[in-house]
Amino acid sequence: MCGIVGFIGKENAVEITIGGLEKLEYRGYDSAGIAYQTNQCLTVCKEKGRVSALKNKLVDAKSSIAIGHTRWATHGEPNQVNAHPHLSLSGRFVIVHNGIIENYQKLKFEYLDTYTFKSQTDTEIIVNLIEYFSKTLHVEEAIRETMSLLEGSYACLVLDTYNFNQIYFFKDKSPLLLGRGPKGFSFSSDITGLIGVAEEYAVLEDKLFGVVEENKITTKDIIGLPKKIIFSPIAISEEEIDKKTYDHFMLKEIYEQPMMIRHIISKYFKGDEMQISPKLIHHIKQSDKVNFVACGSSMYASYFAKYYFEKLCGIPSEVFCASELVYSTPLISKRPFFIFFSQSGETADLIAVMKKVKQQKYPMLTITNTMESSMVRLSNYALNIYAGKEIAVASTKAYTAMVVTSAILARSISGAKTNLKNNLKGVSLAIEKVLENKEICKGVAKEILQCNDLFYIGRGIDYWTALEASLKLKEIAYIHTEAFSSGELKHGPIALIQQNTPVIAIITQEGTNQITRSNLAETEARGAKTYVISSKGVSTPEDDIIIPNVAHYLSSLVSVVVVQLIAYYTAVLKNNDVDKPKNLAKSVTVE
Ligand code: AGP
Ligand code: GLU
Repeated sequence: MCGIVGFIGKENAVEITIGGLEKLEYRGYDSAGIAYQTNQCLTVCKEKGRVSALKNKLVDAKSSIAIGHTRWATHGEPNQVNAHPHLSLSGRFVIVHNGIIENYQKLKFEYLDTYTFKSQTDTEIIVNLIEYFSKTLHVEEAIRETMSLLEGSYACLVLDTYNFNQIYFFKDKSPLLLGRGPKGFSFSSDITGLIGVAEEYAVLEDKLFGVVEENKITTKDIIGLPKKIIFSPIAISEEEIDKKTYDHFMLKEIYEQPMMIRHIISKYFKGDEMQISPKLIHHIKQSDKVNFVACGSSMYASYFAKYYFEKLCGIPSEVFCASELVYSTPLISKRPFFIFFSQSGETADLIAVMKKVKQQKYPMLTITNTMESSMVRLSNYALNIYAGKEIAVASTKAYTAMVVTSAILARSISGAKTNLKNNLKGVSLAIEKVLENKEICKGVAKEILQCNDLFYIGRGIDYWTALEASLKLKEIAYIHTEAFSSGELKHGPIALIQQNTPVIAIITQEGTNQITRSNLAETEARGAKTYVISSKGVSTPEDDIIIPNVAHYLSSLVSVVVVQLIAYYTAVLKNNDVDKPKNLAKSVTVE
């Protein structure tokens, strides 16, 4: 969700900043802007819509210092005026801000009632507070005074037109990284924006204030005491974020799944032994209940974790939707263990839960694709899902990587002699077969293209896959899709079936095969156009898509690829922006 980029150094800061904004496009945004200096004059350029529109206006622009922004509107509609950067009233300061200032109305009333504002954003309050306090204080102190008043979340970069040799930065809750390399210092909301520009990066802590000049960094806490930051090498390459010959990142990421599973195996297995920290295993084993917390696709992946933990380890487990858990705290057992699933590691709903859990001193593990994230820093333990960078907003490979990692973790805890490694290799081969037959998924996509409503059904494991299937189709094909446990249909949802409403059943389990087929027949009898995705072992020759058999508890890792492809081709056929679907963001950094 939104992004911040900045650069000060020896190369063209405008070019680097626009390049960084392009790399952050996948996070989701609705407008973009930049501020830079030439000949001691400030230029601000901003546009509604894509970064490419901004780039076209900056063809010959050159500077040694620039700050840039992609906005995901929270206060004020997405238009050119509300786009960042924002200037202070006198024009002395210019700011880019990610986040939300919750008390901005109050601050406006208390400090800035004589100011006139150009935009509807909460951000304009920040830059004007800095201007207000800098009338009596040094800029550094003015910024820290402003920080002490702000409630909410912010990652900010500020330029002072009285001194163009430095970029001020400060943050709380919203992510911000500082990059360092031979070209100069750079900023980005995530590591992607630093690739190719910086060699090292530091994840900035909450309530940190700092200033960078071409060769110098100063960092302080909110009261002005020196604060150290730690740099680590950037291990991710340009190649990883290249679309290669694929039409979309989503397709590339779907195709990467077999290879990725083999990569996860190589990371977590030494021979047949799994390599999970014994301390973590011991800690989980001591708990009387594991609480899984996540959002969206990651939450659907965590249903499998719950299943593995209960079936393989005998530990009672429950899945919680993070945004609900924050506001309706359930009864907590005596020795709980919390496991958070997040691709980005920056999801605000999850961070809000983690802060509450931390207060109670309960142990926490984050399972994520982003080891340098805020969530990892908040946790006692972290496990990498090793999916590699996922750029498409709709998650595919990160979802499957979470399910695979959960199986590995559960098996490690159970300590049982296991065939998991070979079973996972079998899954990667089965996915390759599904990909070879992608045309069948395209065929289904063509048939469902025009529908207004669509239902996925399944039971148990297959129901959880149906939930993910339905989310994928909503997100990128914009089709109203719901997932129902097939047993629940007759308790209400079957009333929605009309002539030719598509109903897709996912059937991979022996135990639920016949009963799900009966439920599907009940929808067909009421006019539904039905489809079956089944595993070979439980298939009938009439089934629409038959996937290879794998170990029954891993079958969803194969069936999910079918529904990913159906969603992908439906979106492509509808000419939708597959990788950047409307209204959505990759990293959901506001609650
Ligand atoms: C998945 O396709 C979605 N874009 C979304 O539901 C996502 O899974 C959710 O926002 C959670 O994100 P996270 O894994 O980064 O925490
Ligand atoms: N709250 C600010 C706005 O609406 C910043 C949004 C963002 O993070 O992009 O402009």
